[in-house]
Amino acid sequence: MPEQPQNRPRPRDLDIWPLTTERLAIRPAEPGDADALWEIYRLPEVGQWLGWWPADRADWEGLYAEKWHDYLIVERDGAVIGDLMLRIVDGWAQREAADRAVSVQAELGWAFAPSAAGQGFATEAVEALLRLCFEELGLRRVEAGAFAANEPSWRLMERVGMRREGYAVRDSLHRELGWVDGVLYALLAEEWRERAEG
Ligand SMILES: CC(C)(COP(=O)(O)OP(=O)(O)OC[C@H]1O[C@@H](n2cnc3c(N)ncnc32)[C@H](O)[C@@H]1OP(=O)(O)O)[C@@H](O)C(=O)NCCC(=O)NCCS
Repeated sequence: MPEQPQNRPRPRDLDIWPLTTERLAIRPAEPGDADALWEIYRLPEVGQWLGWWPADRADWEGLYAEKWHDYLIVERDGAVIGDLMLRIVDGWAQREAADRAVSVQAELGWAFAPSAAGQGFATEAVEALLRLCFEELGLRRVEAGAFAANEPSWRLMERVGMRREGYAVRDSLHRELGWVDGVLYALLAEEWRERAEG
C-alpha cells in the first residue's frame, strides 16, 4: 500500500467508518470485496466509460489487487451497490513550494450498479465523499474527469456542486469511439463550505 506523505492520515486509517448517510453506508474497500465489485465492473454499461475495464475475471483480480486501496465501498441494506475512488495526490507547485502541495487534493471517481441507478444513490454517496475530503481529510481541492459523452457522470458532478473547469477537444482515446472530448470538474474547500452552509 502506498505511503501517505507528511502526517496526513490515510482515509482508511481514520476512526470514522462506516460513514452513514440517509440510505447508505460507506467504508474502505477490502481485498474481499473483489467478488461483489466484479458483478458491477463486468457489465459493459459500466465499463464503457471507465479508464480500465477488466477483460475477464483473471484480469479483474489483477486490476483489483492494484487498485483496491484507493476505493470506498457503497452499501445499501448490506449489499454492495457501487464504489467511490478517492486518490489523494499532490497539487501542482513550483519546486520551491512543492513541500506545501503534498497530498492536498484528491482525484475522485465512481461506478454504481445499473440496478441502483436513477435513485440518487450516487449523489448521496458523493456528497458524503466531499464531506470526508473537506472536513475529515482537510483537502483543499477535489477533481474528477469524464468523457464528455458520459453525461450521467458529469451531471452527477454538477448535482454535488462541482464546477466545470475544462473541456478538452478530442483529447481522450475511447476504446471503441476513437478520439473523443473530455471534461474536467473541480471543487475547492471554500466553495464546498459556502454551499454546505448556504
Ligand atoms: C455515473 C453514475 C454513478 C451516475 O448514476 P445516476 O444513477 O445517474 O446518479 P444518481 O444515483 O445520483 O441518480 C440520479 C438520478 O436519480 C434521480 N433521483 C431520484 N431520487 C433522487 C434523490 N433523492 N437525489 C438525487 N437524485 C435522485 C435524479 O433525478 C437523477 O435522475 P435523472 O438522471 O433522470 O435526472 C452511473 O451512471 C455509473 O455508475 N456509470 C458507470 C460508471 C461510470 O461511468 N463512472 C464514471 C466514470 S467518469
